[in-house]
Amino acid sequence: MNQSELKKVAAERAALFVEDGMTLGLGTGSTVFFLVEAIARRVREEGLHIEAVATSSRTAKQASALGITMKDINDVDHIDLCIDGADEIDKHFQGIKGGGAAHTLEKMVATTSRRNIWIVDESKMVDTLGKFPLPTEVIPFGCEQVFHRLESENLHPHFRTDADGKRIRTHNGNYVIDLHLGQIKHPHLLKSFLDGQVGLLEHGLFLDLVDTVVVGTQDGAKVIDAVR
Ligand code: A5P
Repeated sequence: MNQSELKKVAAERAALFVEDGMTLGLGTGSTVFFLVEAIARRVREEGLHIEAVATSSRTAKQASALGITMKDINDVDHIDLCIDGADEIDKHFQGIKGGGAAHTLEKMVATTSRRNIWIVDESKMVDTLGKFPLPTEVIPFGCEQVFHRLESENLHPHFRTDADGKRIRTHNGNYVIDLHLGQIKHPHLLKSFLDGQVGLLEHGLFLDLVDTVVVGTQDGAKVIDAVR
């Protein structure tokens, strides 16, 4: 199976965690694309009554076109289960997210949710986080100052750009600065530093958040409960 097929294996297994009556959080990305298809199929075939909050307009559009009832996050009082992709997961079940620049909305939905499941192909499981550049989201006002602060801390920042070299904007109209770290030896220390930076709205370190990881492997889906 190729990477895309492994993503589908994980997504389809995770869709089985959805129960009638749930309010769901739906993540963003190519793995979640398969998840939304699988959940919509269950809604159609089993008559499940669910509603969902999306972490991006891409996911919202797909889910609602497939008949899933979508809600604004401000109109729900809780989320039972959030299922999302990830860019890297280490052996302590800490993660990097934001490859699709949706990490601020994803973190909001994840931290509102009673349970979090991540769905990945096996290439995303790593010993140490950091090979995947760590996304941050910065507000345009003062973003050069934030950039220089990150540079002076040797965090190797790069503004994320599109194919034309133009800085990409998030859903919130902000910029993405990716930190090319190679290895993150102390994720909690880095999180505290980034949390304290004025103008840096959010970052893609998702620590102590996930409850269960579903990994697509050549032998099928593996469901792993996070132990910390
Ligand atoms: C979106 O901002 C990300 O956090 C995605 O969840 C993550 O990049 C996984 O994406 P894929 O499922 O496309 O690999």
